[in-house]
Amino acid sequence: MAAPSPTLDAATSSADPLPPYSTPYSLGRLWSALPTPYSLLPTPASLIRLDANENPFGPSPRVARALAEYPDYGFYPDYLPLRQAVARYAGVAPVQVILSNGADEMIDLLIRLFVEPGQAIVTCPPTFSMYGIFARVNRCQVLSVPRRGDFSLDVAAITATVEASDGNARILFLVSPGNPDGQAIPLNTIRELLALPLIVAVDETYIEFGGETTVPLLPDHDNLIVIRTFSKWAGLAGLRLGYALGPDRPSVGFRCRAIGMAASDGALSFCHSRESGNPPSPGLTGWLERIRAPYNVNAAAMVAAMATLEDLETVQSNVSRLTAERERLRESLAALTWIEPLPSQANFILCRLKDRTGQDVVSGLAKRGILVRGFSDPTMAEYVRIGVGRPEQNETLLTALRELGGEYVGQTTSER
Ligand SMILES: Cc1ncc(COP(=O)(O)O)c(C=O)c1O
Repeated sequence: MAAPSPTLDAATSSADPLPPYSTPYSLGRLWSALPTPYSLLPTPASLIRLDANENPFGPSPRVARALAEYPDYGFYPDYLPLRQAVARYAGVAPVQVILSNGADEMIDLLIRLFVEPGQAIVTCPPTFSMYGIFARVNRCQVLSVPRRGDFSLDVAAITATVEASDGNARILFLVSPGNPDGQAIPLNTIRELLALPLIVAVDETYIEFGGETTVPLLPDHDNLIVIRTFSKWAGLAGLRLGYALGPDRPSVGFRCRAIGMAASDGALSFCHSRESGNPPSPGLTGWLERIRAPYNVNAAAMVAAMATLEDLETVQSNVSRLTAERERLRESLAALTWIEPLPSQANFILCRLKDRTGQDVVSGLAKRGILVRGFSDPTMAEYVRIGVGRPEQNETLLTALRELGGEYVGQTTSER
């Protein structure tokens, strides 16, 4: 990454116009940018989609069966069995689990609950874009503390930013393993940041692929929230199921004013409490449970997640295949002279490019039916993020990259 500016980005004023919303990828947008006529391009089914970090092995085969056999789609779902199953999987109590419509919804809920319009979240770019988007949608500011050139967190700068905000910074969003870099944040660094007077939301969307979970820190930190999802490791991105894990006790005496604000906010007292039938949740999770829509997770996602958790062996073996494939792909990418793949603990690889921009590679591969992710942030112009696909998809990708690089490995000059 180009060295970040030593000065922190100025907070984005809540009066700034909302930046146009764009999804992480858009096949339509991508196609319309191409010179080839629409009708000549491959159908989505023949595209190799390595741009959104999905799981190329898909879900457990039990998911389709469970979805077909579920008899109660006509009724609102009851989340208690899933909360219990997720709690067993994550190693916490059911009261510590809050379900959401993808991790995306959890990010929005956290901001709506703890950050008032005009107050701020803290992010460490390059990072997942939805923190900033949801902050702006909710009329909140974004205090950006760029990561260092090697993508490590600048703890001193984060601390200075939080302190200078005079209580206005309410949530620090961290991602481990990181998107787009794939590197895990050391637990000691997270411990250090948890001492700051704000909520620390650690997004563990990719934790099943590597890195150390922050869940063991929950008993000692009532300002920690862990965000997770079934989208990646479980191959359920299309069904939208995320969750948060929070502290197991009320946040009494917690220094963050956000909690006091939430507890005393008149508006929140109107929120329905749905604790009948479900175990009452303490602290942060209790408040999240109160503000989420009563049926924010659909029954199909719930059924699919239950089937996944009953077939962990298959899903975890797919995760192992994917991480093995990641290492194989990284070695092959490293053999290309113009690509430097960074180490990754996630299901994608961030690559630094020589003499090319990320957009060159994105459009070169798109013309060959392969989608990867480039970045609009100028400090990331020379990077491209490539999801790990199935072995045969990765072979097609490597062949395309060799073509793009003008390298015809294994061929003599006369054969080219
Ligand atoms: C870091 C991070 N957090 C959250 C999400 C959103 O996940 P979900 O599909 O559960 O909404 C993504 C998706 O790519 C992500 O990369």
